Amino acid sequence: MTRELHLNLFIHGRGHHEAAWRHPLATRRALTDIGYYAELARQAEAGLFDSIFLADQLTLGDDAAHVAKGGLEPITTLAALAGATRRIGLIATASTTYTEPFNLARQFASLDHISGGRAGWNIVTSWAPGAGRNFGQDGPAGHEERYERAEEFLEVVTGLWDSWADDAILDDPRSGRFADPRRIRAINHAGEHYRVEGPLNLPRCPQGRPVFVQAGSSATGRRFAARHAEAVFTAQVEKEAAIAFYADLKAQAAAMGRAPERILVLPGLSALIGATEAEARRLSDELDALSDPEVGRARLSGRFGGHDFSHLPLDRPLSVEDFPDPETVQAARSRTQVILSVVARERPTLRALLRRLAGARGHLTMAGTPEQVAALIEDWFRSGAADGFNVMPPVLPAMLDRFVAEVVPILQRRGLFRREYAGDTLRAHYGLPRPPSRHVAGRHAAE
Ligand SMILES: Cc1cc2nc3c(=O)[nH]c(=O)nc-3n(C[C@H](O)[C@H](O)[C@H](O)COP(=O)(O)O)c2cc1C
Repeated sequence: MTRELHLNLFIHGRGHHEAAWRHPLATRRALTDIGYYAELARQAEAGLFDSIFLADQLTLGDDAAHVAKGGLEPITTLAALAGATRRIGLIATASTTYTEPFNLARQFASLDHISGGRAGWNIVTSWAPGAGRNFGQDGPAGHEERYERAEEFLEVVTGLWDSWADDAILDDPRSGRFADPRRIRAINHAGEHYRVEGPLNLPRCPQGRPVFVQAGSSATGRRFAARHAEAVFTAQVEKEAAIAFYADLKAQAAAMGRAPERILVLPGLSALIGATEAEARRLSDELDALSDPEVGRARLSGRFGGHDFSHLPLDRPLSVEDFPDPETVQAARSRTQVILSVVARERPTLRALLRRLAGARGHLTMAGTPEQVAALIEDWFRSGAADGFNVMPPVLPAMLDRFVAEVVPILQRRGLFRREYAGDTLRAHYGLPRPPSRHVAGRHAAE
């Protein structure tokens, strides 16, 4: 089979650009309006996207006065969107640091049942500095500790999802036997962080378990992804670095005995699309004019775990010495590395750096025609930098509409993207097998 691109729609506010909510092309609908999300999901499905994705931070943050925030909780939202769509995958972010595995296993199993096998879980350890304070802790949990917890968390939830065999329910009114107790097992997990008896209190879900997505790209994050992830979201601004990331992740997965093609690498791409390059650039200038560097400065501080950048002038070229060492950052470590690579390479002023980060928080941004966007996608795909993209429209719904109407057909004509869905589950769209249950041994174990 020829290799095909995968496209995921990352829904974020009124668009990924920090100032999108102020632009006349952006929706005026409330971020709590489920109809808004349903329209976006249906549009992505019309464009044959593999999936839609909702991120999640467990804190409001300090910038809510000037940035459109306050969207709906992802799992609840995607359960509603399951009813508004038929085929598209539904990926929700949920934290391993601030949830209990039993709760989360139930929620994702339910989402997978509700959607008929379309659930994906973006496994995050939660980088936002304020999150811990909403969960009875004085500060954020440390980077390594978060990942260590995540390992055990995954072991527990996987055990729970595997605690029912597919044929455990008999539903036989004549014999009076509803379920076969030999096909449902406790997991009796007793580890460093969790003690969970199990089994889960609902049957194995259509996909066996949700698709595992991971989005941390630090050294620890990559090891975690290589071990567990089936799709990886990542911020990459430079093709050579993206190729190196892609090769490293696939090599690490292969070294762990996994098939490298079963871990899809999907960098973010935020494209301002115009009929001409000049139109796209004009739009970019309009968004820049609506951005406030002081809002950007505060957000930069958050990324670096609360580091104080207030003394930095806006208009002198930056150097890496103006920033803390990424290895000491307990927050979004890999994103700080992306930001520092830009600083080292281009020596931008703080104003220019903040303008760039306003576009998509450190993801790849571009402004161009549909042909230029398609050319970049094809180039990265064929160069071994990506298996597809996490499409991050800078303004919603306008830039999604243009992507679906104008970029997707070019990708299809070039034989890079599907013309129809081949299956009904997220695993089918991503070309991933249904995992066998690890817990229920015996006759039906190899499902
Ligand atoms: C596309 C994308 C989406 C992300 N979404 C979230 C999110 O919703 N919540 C979150 O806490 N972290 C999110 N992250 C951040 C990472 O998952 C990770 O928690 C953080 O960067 C720390 O891991 P690292 O140091 O290994 O990069 C996202 C990252 C990417 C690339």
